[in-house]
Amino acid sequence: MAEEKKLFKVKIDNISVEVEPGTTILNAARGIGGDVVPPAMCYYSKLQGSGGKCRTCLVKVTKGSEADPRPMPKLVASCRTTVMDGMEVANITSPEVLEARKGIVEFLLINHPLDCPVCDQAGECDLQDLSYEHGAEGTRYEFKRRTFDKIDLGDHIQLHMTRCILCYRCVFTADQLTASREHGVLDRGDHSQISTYIQNNLDNDFIGNVIDVCPVGALTDKTARFKNRVWFLKPVDAHRNCDNPKCCGKVALWMRGDEVFRVTARKDQYGEVENWICDTCRFEKKDVKDWTIEGPRKIDRHSVISQGHYVNTVKPKDPLVEVLDGRQPKLLFDIHTQSEVNRPTIDLSKIDGPAHSDDFNKSQS
Ligand code: SF4
Ligand code: SF4
Ligand code: FES
Repeated sequence: MAEEKKLFKVKIDNISVEVEPGTTILNAARGIGGDVVPPAMCYYSKLQGSGGKCRTCLVKVTKGSEADPRPMPKLVASCRTTVMDGMEVANITSPEVLEARKGIVEFLLINHPLDCPVCDQAGECDLQDLSYEHGAEGTRYEFKRRTFDKIDLGDHIQLHMTRCILCYRCVFTADQLTASREHGVLDRGDHSQISTYIQNNLDNDFIGNVIDVCPVGALTDKTARFKNRVWFLKPVDAHRNCDNPKCCGKVALWMRGDEVFRVTARKDQYGEVENWICDTCRFEKKDVKDWTIEGPRKIDRHSVISQGHYVNTVKPKDPLVEVLDGRQPKLLFDIHTQSEVNRPTIDLSKIDGPAHSDDFNKSQS
């Protein structure tokens, strides 16, 4: 008989959960869900080695374990710290953690432009949400901010390095998902930047996934940039038989009416991709006929895009039908097809300048 695995008992914000040894505090908190889950800007469960860069997930370990109940002397990164049996952790119940998180947000925003009104990521941006929830109103930073020119990384992706928070997610994605990685973090310290070597194109059949993993608007889809605000679009689950064996072919289409504005992978409540998709599905299949529509997508994320639910909505009754006693109203029509008045004598589109009364049949008026 298989030996039963011993689970560790952990308390996070006074809520108990049992998890397997080796689980991080962050994932234990995700097992509980809701507000006790620390924000994570760099950790990504689908990417090996991610985490430990941004410090937004800091928590306070108030009791180390049953065997050694001493608290940890400093706040720890919950995405990198594994639980011990009997451990007690404070996240939102610790004023110290909330204060530290505020400081982290201030750090992340030191060089960040916060140009959300013109940023494509707005509405689904982790940093925007974090700033609203934990940010200070002002900044104490007095020095010149570092800025970068926007760079086209090939035909489909644009890098706006000024917005990058150096989470390394895109680097791990390229490393672990594509055949060859062509970009990385160049330089160190406050000179660090995401870049390709001598501005190569990012050209790889899965490289578009860097757009989905980027928590901010640093990597954007050039085929969708500035075309619409994300909260005006309706996400719809759709799939196709993609001939790339590594692509799941299951996507979210972001539509307005019948128009597909962008194609993304489907994401879970933590903004993480459920299954990776190839660049053909993402960039080249923008016609609704390319897809089998499954139905409206429910967005579980804590973000403005989860507000616009339209499932089970009821179309309001049209009062005109009743007022007109069942007759169909003609609300939009060409006046000249309905009336003999002012019938033009020539094709008005062919005349130079505005129409003159001579261009109309006066005998009719
Ligand atoms: S990346 Fe996020 S926080 Fe930064 S400008 Fe864009 S929406 Fe705003
Ligand atoms: S470009 Fe985006 S994903 Fe890449 S390091 Fe910067 S913030 Fe992270
Ligand atoms: S999510 Fe833990 S350090 Fe970034």
